[in-house]
Amino acid sequence: MPETIHLVRRAGFTINDTPGVITSPIVIAIDGFSSCGKSTLAKALAKKLNYRYIDSGAMYRAVTLFMLEENTKVDQLAEWPEKDLEQFLDKIHITFEINPLTGLSEVVLNGRNVEKSIRDLRISDLVSPVSAIPAIRHRMVDLQKSYGTQKGIVMDGRDIGTTVFPDAELKLFMTARKEVRAKRRFDELNEKGFMVTVDEVMKNIADRDHTDTHRKESPLRQSEDAIVLDNSNMNQVEQLAFAMELIRQRATITAE
Ligand code: DC
Repeated sequence: MPETIHLVRRAGFTINDTPGVITSPIVIAIDGFSSCGKSTLAKALAKKLNYRYIDSGAMYRAVTLFMLEENTKVDQLAEWPEKDLEQFLDKIHITFEINPLTGLSEVVLNGRNVEKSIRDLRISDLVSPVSAIPAIRHRMVDLQKSYGTQKGIVMDGRDIGTTVFPDAELKLFMTARKEVRAKRRFDELNEKGFMVTVDEVMKNIADRDHTDTHRKESPLRQSEDAIVLDNSNMNQVEQLAFAMELIRQRATITAE
């Protein structure tokens, strides 16, 4: 008996004609340090499973862009009375749209596609402290949770497995050596036309690691039931295969 049929019987999952593709929707949470390839894997999984992909970091980046455009500083924002901060947040509407050319979801801030501008190093330098402000996190987390009600979603970020989707069927925690991460980020930024040095990228990564792991509100940490994926020496195909295998195993285990 083929393995896929075996899975259908044991887990009650429906499986596509393509061997091993599970169509019963689950939630996949991918967390980890910055520049560990989370979004690359998340996008590949979403494509393979025909799931929705949400880049939660893009949401914090969009808030940061809005803040800059409003000529507001992070320190000011952090000290505003709650009422003012809530009013500021009321002016921010974040949605996602599919780019018809790439088939990938892109972030939209108040009706404007800002997918490219939020990748600027200016935003990268400020986004960690912005994302550490509790009122901002609460807003974003509520929005992120709302995306998961229908399941069939892959979301990547820092607190997805711990706070946004603590019941996710699959939680991955991605990591890679610092120099590998810096090189990847440098190449990515160069490719997108941003002029940066490796030193600047290294510093930005180190600063963000520190802020993300030390903030009071839902800091980056590995959920106890997350599976660690160190991809320092893995290519994208290997990572996708690793995750797909876990999805198959989870499908069987979940229904038992
Ligand atoms: O994934 P990214 O590098 O685009 O994320 C940008 C910043 O947003 C990152 O420094 C930490 C923050 N972030 C967060 O606090 N929680 C998330 N779920 C996603 C991102």
